[in-house]
Amino acid sequence: MRENLLSEINYKNLEQIEDKIWSLIHDAVVNRDAPFRTPIFSNIEDGKPNARTVVLRSANSNDKNIFFNADFRSPKIKYLKENPQCHLTFYDKLEKIQLRVTARSIIHYQDSICSSAWNKVNHFSRKCYLYEKSPGSEINSPRSSYPREFFENGYTLNQSECGYINFCVIECLFISIDWLYLAAKGHLRASLNYKSKSEPSFTWISP
Ligand SMILES: Cc1cc2nc3c(=O)[nH]c(=O)nc-3n(C[C@H](O)[C@H](O)[C@H](O)COP(=O)(O)O)c2cc1C
Repeated sequence: MRENLLSEINYKNLEQIEDKIWSLIHDAVVNRDAPFRTPIFSNIEDGKPNARTVVLRSANSNDKNIFFNADFRSPKIKYLKENPQCHLTFYDKLEKIQLRVTARSIIHYQDSICSSAWNKVNHFSRKCYLYEKSPGSEINSPRSSYPREFFENGYTLNQSECGYINFCVIECLFISIDWLYLAAKGHLRASLNYKSKSEPSFTWISP
């Protein structure tokens, strides 16, 4: 039970912290209610920061990466192609852990990662990729970007296949993690650097 997690943990070393980080991330991939399920993903667009909530879909602790789905027509894709530097912020209130992750993005469009993720997008959620206009474009009325035919009659799984052209996966390769643990006895903060994936460097830092 998550309630049992409220007692304070005396984090002592990199292994313990890293294990905790990746167990929370892996849990969030399968657990819809996990706070780490919906991190904030940020990037730079025309020199300015932009940020939005995304849903964690997959993660690999060996490769130090996470994946989320997106609409290929979103302006963020163009900007990430220009500048793949990105950032993820996670916060788990019960665990009292914040992660600020510096990462590099890789766009998967019409490759094997993209098609395998598309096959996991359920019938209902495919709706996100059926809008006729790109995310962020102006429309005349609230529903005018959603095909009238689908609005009136719904769509079959087969019809939803046309959304694949708008679908992509964004991979975020972790470069470093700023880990913060809020504790009554004094907050703990550490920096993990993944320059070497097999042997990350670790430093305690002042909260
Ligand atoms: C709970 C929640 C989950 C979301 N998940 C995603 C996601 O996985 N991928 C995504 O691109 N947008 C997701 N969105 C929508 C984005 O936050 C954003 O509104 C959308 O991507 C358009 O903005 P952008 O084109 O600047 O990214 C989600 C929004 C919410 C509220």
